[in-house]
Amino acid sequence: MKSKILCVFGTRPEAIKMAPIILALKQESVFDVRVLATAQHRHLLDQVMKVFNIKPDIDLDIMRPNQALTTLTALLLLALDDVLLAEKPDAVLAQGDTTTVMTVALACFYHKIPFGHVEAGLRTLDMQNPFPEEMNRVIASRLAKWHFAPTESSRKNLLREGVADVDIIVTGNTVIDALLSVVDRNMELPIALDPSKRLILVTAHRRENFGEPFKQVCSALLTLLDRNPDIQVLYPVHPNPNVKDTAHRLLGSHSRVILCDPLDYLPFVAAMKSSYIILSDSGGVQEEAPALGKPVLVLRHETERPEAVDEGVVKLVGTNFDVIVSEVQRLLDDDLAYRSMARGVSPYGDGHAAERIVKVLRDYFA
Ligand code: UD1
Ligand code: UDP
Repeated sequence: MKSKILCVFGTRPEAIKMAPIILALKQESVFDVRVLATAQHRHLLDQVMKVFNIKPDIDLDIMRPNQALTTLTALLLLALDDVLLAEKPDAVLAQGDTTTVMTVALACFYHKIPFGHVEAGLRTLDMQNPFPEEMNRVIASRLAKWHFAPTESSRKNLLREGVADVDIIVTGNTVIDALLSVVDRNMELPIALDPSKRLILVTAHRRENFGEPFKQVCSALLTLLDRNPDIQVLYPVHPNPNVKDTAHRLLGSHSRVILCDPLDYLPFVAAMKSSYIILSDSGGVQEEAPALGKPVLVLRHETERPEAVDEGVVKLVGTNFDVIVSEVQRLLDDDLAYRSMARGVSPYGDGHAAERIVKVLRDYFA
């Protein structure tokens, strides 16, 4: 009899990072693969499912405008309970640190279903940063049977918390599998850029940056644009109203700022490839951009992804106006500093993470 594996995702990055696993599991005749989209995100998620040609078997359609964390958590737990009762999977997989992942891990615990945590062991050791993701990861780790750690340092974090070595498998990050599967495709950026100007690509969405920190980021961008007539900013704005409203109010009228809706994955990869510098508080972008040889200045004060920082290709600049202006200006002016950050290293994986995860499940169920 086939083993039933339920693969769950809710947001854009989870779908990107689960897609390689779902596609690899579907190649194996021993598995009955079921796909559950909680749809904690709606439009952002639909974009990714289309790119990877994944159709969910179950779609909970949970997203509400400007959803509160407690409501989201409660709705997810109730809906997941029904799914697990109906589906009775032999194992469940989910990726990362969102509310979807935390509630899936908890629901599996209540139903005594083995849970595999993809991208396990990332830590800042600060519960408020990122909020609520650090807590979500810690909870998922306490509840997981399999810990698919992307790197050695994430493995060490888990060992420090008492996870048994035998339950941790270092796989690399599936985001590199996803990136490598599309990077050589012919991609068009559906936005007219000025080829004579260097492109600063911006993304931002972290809850701890809402309000004043995010305003400082926008002010820093305006100052950099004034000082450097040869740069342009492309900023696909996250639909969270806390980000969207401020971005449009502060940056919307500048002639060298292009604010657009979130880009589909392929055009976004094309935008990363076309960029000179990336400014972002995103987790996934910190992993992808180094593999593309693009310097990332991270709009956060800490990161759970220290590997690329240690390599010198990602730098934490936080959300302080002066620091952002001086660090971007340095990369614009100092070619040596720029080249040392644009080396093209990939500390997060070799593109075979999904295969390693599938092998663990194949061996277990055999
Ligand atoms: C969520 C995750 C975060 C992850 C990020 C990736 C939580 C608590 N947060 O943050 O860890 O890094 O996704 O992007 O799990 N919205 C839309 N359309 C969409 C998606 C979102 O309109 O397709 C708007 C809605 O108003 C929604 C709001 O954004 O209520 C917030 O969505 P939510 O998933 O709660 O938080 P994110 O900030 O997207
Ligand atoms: N991304 C995308 N379109 C965009 C911005 C980002 O497809 O307009 C991709 C990006 O390549 C990465 C992922 O979305 O793989 C990151 O998602 P996000 O920043 O929302 O979440 P995080 O990684 O911080 O959890």
